[in-house]
Amino acid sequence: MFLNFQTVPIIESGTGKVSLLSDFCSQLNIKRPIIITDEAFYNLGFIEEIEKKLKSKNIIPRVYKKVLPDPPEDNIFEAVNIYKNFNADGVIGFGGGSSMDVAKAVAYFSINNIKIKNCYGLNNLKNSRSPLIQIPTTSGTGSEVTPIAIFTLKSEQKMGIVDPLLYADIAILDAELTLGLPKNITAYSGIDAMVHAIEAYTTKFKKNPISDALAKKALFLLGGNIRVAVEEPRNKKARENMLLGSMLAGMAFANAPCAAVHALAYPIGAQFHVPHGLSNSLVLSQVLKFNSKDVKDMYCEIAPDCIPDLKNKNPTVDDFIYGIEKLIIDLKIPNCLNEVGINIKDIPNLAKDAMKQERLLMNNPRKLNYEDALAIYKAAL
Ligand SMILES: [Fe+2]
Repeated sequence: MFLNFQTVPIIESGTGKVSLLSDFCSQLNIKRPIIITDEAFYNLGFIEEIEKKLKSKNIIPRVYKKVLPDPPEDNIFEAVNIYKNFNADGVIGFGGGSSMDVAKAVAYFSINNIKIKNCYGLNNLKNSRSPLIQIPTTSGTGSEVTPIAIFTLKSEQKMGIVDPLLYADIAILDAELTLGLPKNITAYSGIDAMVHAIEAYTTKFKKNPISDALAKKALFLLGGNIRVAVEEPRNKKARENMLLGSMLAGMAFANAPCAAVHALAYPIGAQFHVPHGLSNSLVLSQVLKFNSKDVKDMYCEIAPDCIPDLKNKNPTVDDFIYGIEKLIIDLKIPNCLNEVGINIKDIPNLAKDAMKQERLLMNNPRKLNYEDALAIYKAAL
């Protein structure tokens, strides 16, 4: 079997680990980091504490806190300017997927004078990047361990830069940072992480024993803890398991890529500004139904991990899909496109944009064309 597997070389996980950030900066010889985050997370106060701690160790940070959801390219350009004017020597991504994706791009474009439009797609980066530390504050994207950065262009299209150069040097998982996440964000990001693992387990070309093991363990942790994490936001054990599960899912899909759920979700996010996890959730069960003809056995294999109630019950593919639909309803996630303001007249445009996500669609276990996309969106209305 031909197998290639890559991930971040150093993972530091544990409650309170983020307080050791100065040690990790020193490990990478970072003395003037730029911290990339968003305003909402900055206002929680964690970063101010960290700035103080870094300064006490003679590490002088500068914060860029203007990252927007579904980040536009302007976020990169602004932060790169700050990096240069400040003479920064490293990048710390601190937040959800948007902040970490911007951090990846800043680490690259801060020392490479290359036009971003030439970098979209697979393996288009050259040279090297600045030192990069990633610290997730949600349990969903797994961006801390992926080589993928997604941006929303002015045309409302989401585009990805995918290149091994975007793997961080160090990822720090500290569940304490996730204790204050609101219920809806916990639910959306948790479903996103589950989708990463489900799509990795059933991906068409790069499925392999390492990604399979990671995806199964991720689903065991996520499926077993998502309800508790939503209901009891300060339950540390559940938060730790969600953070670990989302990272394992990230490792899996970084090597066994995502497919049609993400391809059909991206236009919903880009055109209607729906959060990424919710966009995935809205099309998930219909894509599972579409794919189930080709990957029924795989869905049955992961069913007891995703839905603990199905353990020792020899579940059918219908049990699996019903279990996912029930989970989405129980978590009080909107479960039809109408609920986020999408109508039948919007569907052709969504389907047209979904077909542009070739990077993802090529990984889908069942070939999906424009008519299939229309039918899936219609069924999700
Ligand atoms: Fe995702």
